[in-house]
Amino acid sequence: MTSNSDNSLPLILVTGGAGYIGSHTVLALQQAGFQVLILDTLERGHRDLVDTVLKTELIVGNTGDRPLLDRIFQTYPVKAVMHFAAYIEAGESVRSPDRFYQNNVCGALTLLQAMVAAGIPYFVFSSTAAVYGLPPEVPIQETCPCAPINPYGCSKWMVEQIVGDLGRAYGLKSVIFRYFNAAGADPYSRLGEDHHPETHLIPLVLQAAMGRRPHIVIYGTDYPTPDGTCIRDYIHVVDLAQAHVLGLKYLLGGGNSAIFNLGNGQGFSVRQIIETAQRVTGCPIPVVEGDRRAGDPAILIANSDRARAILGWKPRYPDIEQIIQHAWQWHQYRHGSGTAAVV
Ligand SMILES: NC(=O)c1ccc[n+]([C@@H]2O[C@H](COP(=O)([O-])OP(=O)(O)OC[C@H]3O[C@@H](n4cnc5c(N)ncnc54)[C@H](O)[C@@H]3O)[C@@H](O)[C@H]2O)c1
Repeated sequence: MTSNSDNSLPLILVTGGAGYIGSHTVLALQQAGFQVLILDTLERGHRDLVDTVLKTELIVGNTGDRPLLDRIFQTYPVKAVMHFAAYIEAGESVRSPDRFYQNNVCGALTLLQAMVAAGIPYFVFSSTAAVYGLPPEVPIQETCPCAPINPYGCSKWMVEQIVGDLGRAYGLKSVIFRYFNAAGADPYSRLGEDHHPETHLIPLVLQAAMGRRPHIVIYGTDYPTPDGTCIRDYIHVVDLAQAHVLGLKYLLGGGNSAIFNLGNGQGFSVRQIIETAQRVTGCPIPVVEGDRRAGDPAILIANSDRARAILGWKPRYPDIEQIIQHAWQWHQYRHGSGTAAVV
């Protein structure tokens, strides 16, 4: 491990930087003049995108590996850490809760302990709307009580508590982002969503449009919503990435630790997403209606006023059609006959 970093640019360690949201954020950080070092197990990440698009140093390793973290912090002048690395699928967390607590909670705690020992004071954390569980009202504000209903949401809520306690004990400064549904892709198709297994609605719908899966299943058509299907708030991944850059600058500029929701404040039902995807792709999307899944709230919509007011964040791509269009371009490029848009 050798540090060949240019000391004139602040160096940010991005855990999970080979994954979906992490990779888009690495690109945004680079465009904002930061240097980036990625730590990723590559269990769910994509080395090819790091090598060909991000072209930055990747350390293949685990956030739970304390000796490795100590070596990284001794070798590189890391100014701040952005922590995306986690297992992310709620259903999987119900089946294997121990794996989620080990990876998401123990992994984060080990990372935070190594940061405190190395004197790195700034931490940006990927939390989730899942910490709210079944919220009593929407749009959801950050002050809404947290009551996660699955081990994934619990793991993120636990890390939020740890981050808060370490802030009070050791002066760690943090920004915690609670994302709603991340979607879309880099507008030039350099990066995009490619989870294995894929569980998110928009990529699943687009796979059905491409014929890569026979149909899309709608889980529950009897919710108390206008068309009976669940409503979610979709936020473009590039807008999430931009929020991270602003959150980092806020901390580096002396801002106090804070928690921010990130969503567009507008909800779309499963049926509306499928209809929009049909319009965008021009392809038929076969639908199968299934039963509700346990623990799916009817409506999740963010109030992100705090991020707008304090960070000056303003989503650039709030339009759902454009979000799906960018995701479609990426899917065609990655899995079909499409070509990347010209940058
Ligand atoms: N995708 C969403 O809609 C969404 C919504 C809310 C919150 N989040 C949070 O955002 C973060 C990123 O999500 P994503 O969709 O990009 O997921 P992702 O699976 O694409 O990326 C996560 C990356 O972390 C890596 N990783 C996992 N555990 C690791 C560990 N212990 N050490 C090092 N690397 C590890 C994986 O290999 C992967 O590359 C996660 O923390 C997730 O909980 C995502």
